[in-house]
Amino acid sequence: MLNPEQIAQDAAAAFAATDDPDALEQIKARYLGKSGRITELLKGMAALSSEEKKTTGAAINRAKTAIEAALERRREALREQALAARLAGESLDVSLPGRGEPRGGLHPVTRTQERVEALFRSIGFEVADGPEIEGDFQNFAALNMPKDHPARSMHDTFYLLDENGRVAEDILLRTHTSPIQVRYMQAHVARHARLGTMPEIRIIAPGRVYRVDSDATHSPVFHQVEGLWIGEQVSFADLKGVVAEFLRRFFESDDLQVRFRPSFFPFTEPSAEIDVAFMSGVLEGRWLEIAGCGMVHPNVLRHVGIDPEKYLGFAFGMGLDRLTMLRYGVNDLRLFFDGDLRFLRQFV
Ligand code: DAH
Repeated sequence: MLNPEQIAQDAAAAFAATDDPDALEQIKARYLGKSGRITELLKGMAALSSEEKKTTGAAINRAKTAIEAALERRREALREQALAARLAGESLDVSLPGRGEPRGGLHPVTRTQERVEALFRSIGFEVADGPEIEGDFQNFAALNMPKDHPARSMHDTFYLLDENGRVAEDILLRTHTSPIQVRYMQAHVARHARLGTMPEIRIIAPGRVYRVDSDATHSPVFHQVEGLWIGEQVSFADLKGVVAEFLRRFFESDDLQVRFRPSFFPFTEPSAEIDVAFMSGVLEGRWLEIAGCGMVHPNVLRHVGIDPEKYLGFAFGMGLDRLTMLRYGVNDLRLFFDGDLRFLRQFV
């Protein structure tokens, strides 16, 4: 008869010789399975005397227990091996520098807009808004520029197609922020219609505007800020005071020279262009055009339902991009819109 102890040793050696969990289970069957070695031994006991049965039975049982223990140890060892291999495969190299979250920053023109808004809010102006896709009435007609008006030629813009693919004549991308005045005044009149009187209007309206234009100082999309003050006693002197004070604060320059030069806009009368001159820096002593302005034309007031005999006021419009270029000393407008981070990062 085979020696149970020897069998247990063989089994332990066979278990140790495999790294494969499936193979391990097959080896187990060879010893403990239905026709395995241990089972064979137990079957062979039938022929033994009861005295022999005792000793042999005990030896076989020890062998069986030893095999089971060896099997369990090997199973556990293989499980640990597999886990270690998986961990090694998935390991992180914590010494790699992280990718980080790049931090965004405000665009320089946005900074200018926020600065303009803050300065005007501080003297009691509200910030108004309006759509970039405008109607012909708001962008032109209400502003005293009827269909055949020559001033329209300076406002060539982008038109939109209607559902039949034809140019929708009455819908366009706004060419200036002045239509926001029109919308604001109409809403203001409607809001106070039942009062018979109307509180003052004091707004600025910043926003994106569009024209068919593109070179170092013109971009097809650019930014303006419109100003409007309507009341019973608003004069050209108020206009001069508000705008000059704003410009000095914006450029942080008390000795900034501001001059009003007679000009023409269909929506104001009288009209002026506003120039500034710096007393120091690279632009020292040069007059630079910065805004258009004037007293709101009576026809504009009429178009929005305000009585020009009772109310009057001033309006102005300036380029936010222009203000930004002057403030930071940038000479090519296109730099603002190319999206080159090396340029834009300088303002963050
Ligand atoms: N809307 C004018 C433009 O874009 C700028 C302007 C001039 C606006 C005079 C005004 C104004 O409100 O009074 O050319």
